[in-house]
Amino acid sequence: MAVESPTAPATPERQPFRPGLEGVPATQSAICDIDGQQGLLTYRGYSVGDLVAQSSFLETAYLLIWGELPTSTELRAFEHEVQMHRRVSFRIRDMMKSFPSGGHPMDALQASAASLGLFYSRRALDNPEYIVGAVVRLLAKIPTMVAAFQLIRKGQDPIQPRDDLAYAANFLYMLTEREPDPLAARIFDTCLILHAEHSLNASTFSARVTASTLTDPYAVVASAVGTLAGPLHGGANEDVLAMLEEIGSLDQVEPWLEQAMAQKQKIMGFGHREYKVKDPRAVILQKLAEDLFDQFGHDPLYDLARKLEEVAAERLGPKGIYPNVDFYSGLVYRKLGIPEDLFTPIFAIARTAGWLAHWKEQLGANRIYRPSQIYTGAAGRDWMPLQAR
Ligand code: ACO
Repeated sequence: MAVESPTAPATPERQPFRPGLEGVPATQSAICDIDGQQGLLTYRGYSVGDLVAQSSFLETAYLLIWGELPTSTELRAFEHEVQMHRRVSFRIRDMMKSFPSGGHPMDALQASAASLGLFYSRRALDNPEYIVGAVVRLLAKIPTMVAAFQLIRKGQDPIQPRDDLAYAANFLYMLTEREPDPLAARIFDTCLILHAEHSLNASTFSARVTASTLTDPYAVVASAVGTLAGPLHGGANEDVLAMLEEIGSLDQVEPWLEQAMAQKQKIMGFGHREYKVKDPRAVILQKLAEDLFDQFGHDPLYDLARKLEEVAAERLGPKGIYPNVDFYSGLVYRKLGIPEDLFTPIFAIARTAGWLAHWKEQLGANRIYRPSQIYTGAAGRDWMPLQAR
């Protein structure tokens, strides 16, 4: 009779397969909490509404990454560090000049974020100074790289960051070559806060899986950027405007929705795995859009969006499908004069804060991700020589 070794691992219990890992906890985290029934979102225990009203993006990034709100000295030092590292090497700018100008800015961002690892590749993950340096560099340089590609693809040279401008204002300046209106800069900063973190979404999961191999933080962010790019995730914000433009007029909203639903088409900017009510970020973004329209003029696409939300509430509301963060963000960015294919890179600028918070948390209690699978393929097949196939 075979005697089982006392050290032999017990046969793992077979877990039911949950497509998309729905409802499966894949980590423990103290960074962000979502109440999808009530429509509540908190970062480190602070409501996102309070942060939007009181904080700045960099202060929120500090909170997410280090776990506590900074003192005024800490915040000043952090802002100063980020400001000092905004420039990117001329070698990265030259590399970006060789990218095809028709390429998507998310692909350009993924490649340039990964290239930072060539310049700062030392993986001293147990050195706190290395961690701080990587956090600062990524927060500082990602916006510069997004703005640089925008100018490069228009055949222009990127412009240098301006030290007298705060984070959001400097990005808008590097993008448009104009100092932004203070209201526009403040609203943009608020958008960054709203997009900074959202628990274990696909790109953050991707970041944590990559982080768990103990690779460098630039690879972590680059893998997350690639994941965010898809239309079911961050890429939806650019599809929302295309959808509204396709609908075209108020009287077409209902027939368009009927047809889309008959064809089992997903309505972009609607639905969320976590929320069964309207995404609290969509509520705030809608208000920001209205503030912008009051100041800088109305956008008729907003009327279409509101009508679509109203009509969709009757059809999709009973299933818990309501506008998500992407539904109104595009209208805000459009009013700020930002090209549509930069909406997702802007999402990435903001979400870099969340990815870095998760990178740091993952390192604090790391175990490599290695889930199991349920094999559904063939078994016991006899080899067939090439000539016999
Ligand atoms: N329009 C119409 N029906 C929808 C939508 C939608 N936007 N979203 C979900 N549904 C329906 C599905 O058809 C399905 O119906 P069924 O049960 O009758 O077949 C049901 O709701 C569940 O949908 P799933 O796709 O299984 O939901 P899941 O949680 O996997 O997907 C997702 C969530 C990807 C966000 C989905 O709602 C979607 O594709 N939305 C459109 C794209 C989008 O806006 N993405 C941005 C999300 S926010 C972010 O990532 C930043």
